[in-house]
Amino acid sequence: MRGLIPDSFIDELLARVDIVDVIERRVPLKKAGREWTACCPFHNERSPSFYVSPAKQFFHCFGCGVHGSAIKFLMDYDRLEFPDAVEELAQTVGLTVPREGGREAAPREDKTDLYALLDAAAGWYEGELPRSGDAQAYCKKRGLDAETIRRFRLGWAPAGYDGVIKALGNTPRRMELLNEAGMVASSERGSKYDRFRERLMFPILDRRGRVIAFGGRVLSSEQSPKYLNSPETPLFHKGRELFALWQVKQANQSLARIVVVEGYMDVIALHQAGLPIAVATLGTATTPEHTEVLFRAAPDVVFCFDGDRAGRAAAWKALESALPRLRDGRQAYFLFLPDGEDPDSLVRKEGKDGFEKRIREAMPLSDYFFNELSHDVDMASLDGRARLAERARPLIGKLPDGAFRDLMAQELEKRSGARAMLQADPAAHRAVQRPTAVQRSLVRSAISLLLAQPGLADQVEKPYRFLRLDKPGVELLAELLDLARARPGINPAMLVEHFAERPEYPSLQKLMAATVVGEAEAQAAEFFDALQRMEDQAVTQRRDALTAKSREGALDSAEKAELRELLAARVRPPVASA
Ligand code: GTP
Ligand code: MN
Repeated sequence: MRGLIPDSFIDELLARVDIVDVIERRVPLKKAGREWTACCPFHNERSPSFYVSPAKQFFHCFGCGVHGSAIKFLMDYDRLEFPDAVEELAQTVGLTVPREGGREAAPREDKTDLYALLDAAAGWYEGELPRSGDAQAYCKKRGLDAETIRRFRLGWAPAGYDGVIKALGNTPRRMELLNEAGMVASSERGSKYDRFRERLMFPILDRRGRVIAFGGRVLSSEQSPKYLNSPETPLFHKGRELFALWQVKQANQSLARIVVVEGYMDVIALHQAGLPIAVATLGTATTPEHTEVLFRAAPDVVFCFDGDRAGRAAAWKALESALPRLRDGRQAYFLFLPDGEDPDSLVRKEGKDGFEKRIREAMPLSDYFFNELSHDVDMASLDGRARLAERARPLIGKLPDGAFRDLMAQELEKRSGARAMLQADPAAHRAVQRPTAVQRSLVRSAISLLLAQPGLADQVEKPYRFLRLDKPGVELLAELLDLARARPGINPAMLVEHFAERPEYPSLQKLMAATVVGEAEAQAAEFFDALQRMEDQAVTQRRDALTAKSREGALDSAEKAELRELLAARVRPPVASA
C-alpha cells in the first residue's frame, strides 16, 4: 500500500507542512525556547514532557517515548493508516497524492461514487429490516436490541433478484458501480442480479466509518453458505479490514486492550453486553496486516478462539502473524474458550464481568508459545529439549530486536538448556541495535547527531575514512550521509522517512528522538568529534589486527609497510568509548 505513494511525494509533503501547525490544531502547544511543549496526548501526565521541534519537524515525548514526523503524529493521534495520514496531510496543504502503478490509481471521483453507493445500499437494507417479520423475529431470537441494530447498521436484504438493482441501479453508470462494489453477481448468460438475498446484512466499515462491504447471514441453519461476504473490490481487501474497528474506536477515547474474536455475532454480543472492545476478522485467518492494525489501536491484543482443534490452529496462525510486530510495549494474549462455547454464548451466560475476567486471565503469548512447542516433546530428555530449541529459534528470530526478544531467548535457554544463538535477520543485525541502552556507541551518537542536523553532511569529506571501522551501524551512517548530501535542505523527519520500509526504521526514530532537544552548535561539535574518534578507532583496530598477524609471521610486504605507517602515525589515546 505504502509503496504506491512515491517517496519523492512524501519528501515534498513533509517539506510543505509544518508539524507545529499540524499538532497545534489538535493539541494546544506552548513555546519553550526553540521547541514547543504540551502535556503528552498519548499518556496521562501533569507536567509537559511532550516536545515538538520546528527545526527538526519532529515530535517526541520524554515520558512515554512516542515520537516521529507529522505523518506519524496523525497516524497515532487520529489513528489513521499511513496512506490515510498522507492523504489527510496533503489535503491541508492543497497537494494531491500521486499513486504509482497506474492500474490501482482509480480516479478519485470513482471511489467517492462507490462509497456513496455502498452507503445508500446500507441505508436501503436498514430500511428493509422493519418490513420483514422473519428478520425481526430472528433479531429478537438472537437478543439484539434496537440500539445495537442501529449502531451496527444491521439490515435485511429481501428476497428477489433485483431489489438493490431497482433501488439503486437506475442508470447504466449506477449499474456499473453496483458491479464494481460487488453488490451484484452475473448469471451465465451475463445478466446481473442481487448478490445478497434473504440475508441479515452486516455492513463492514473502514477505519473512517465508511461502508466498504457487507456480510450477509441466512436466517435458517439449513441453508448454506451461512455467511456470504462481498468479494474483493477496489475498496475492500479482506486481509486488511476488521469488523467493528470503527465502532470500537467510536466507543473508546483511548484503548488499553482490544479483543479479536471469530464471528460477527460474537463481536456484536460483546459490544451489546458493554464490552465495545471486540473486533473480528472477516472469516479469514489473522494476517500480519491485521496484527499491525490491531497494535496501532491498542498496546494489548487478546486473540480469542474456540478451544477446539480448528480454534487452536487459528490461534497459532495469529501468533505467527503477531511475532514480527511485537515491538517493546506491545503484548499479545490468547484466550481459549471452553468446548462448545463462543463469546456470544459465554457473555450471555456469564455477563460482562464474567467475560472481562476471562480476558484479564488470558494467557500471555510467551506461555502459549512454549506450551504449544513443548506439548509433544519429552522435556526430560536431551533430545526433546534440543527439539524445542530447534523449533523455537527461528520463531524467536522473527521478533523485533528489543527487551521482549531477549526475554524469550533467555526463557528458551532456561527451558532447553541450549544457548539461543538467534538467527537474526542479517539486515537487522547490521542495523543499529538497542539504541535505548544508556551507553550509546560512537556510531550511534554520530547517527543521532546527524539526524538532528542533516546539513552537517556537507562538511564531511569523502571518502569517509571512518568506513574502515568494523562496527555495526557504520554503513548505515555512510548511507545517511550520502542521502543528506544528495538532498540539500532535507529535514530530519524526511531523512528518517526514507528508511520507512527498512528494518532500521524504528532504531532511527529512536536515535532521532535522542537529540530532539539540544544546542545546535554543541551537537555539531560533538558530531565531528565522534567521526574523528571513529577514524582513530579504525586505525587502532587495523593496527591491532596487523600486529596480531605479524606475531604469527603471516604479513606480506604490503601489510608490513602498512603496519609501519600505522605505528608511526600518531593516534589519540583511546578515550572512553564503546
Ligand atoms: P452465528 O452462527 O450467527 O452465531 O455466527 P458467528 O458470527 O458466531 O459465526 P461463526 O462462529 O459460525 O463463524 C465465524 C465467522 O466465520 C463468521 O462471522 C463469518 O465471518 C465466517 N463464516 C462462517 N461461516 C461462513 C460461511 O459459510 N462462509 C463464509 N464466507 N464465511 C463464514
Ligand atoms: Mn456464533
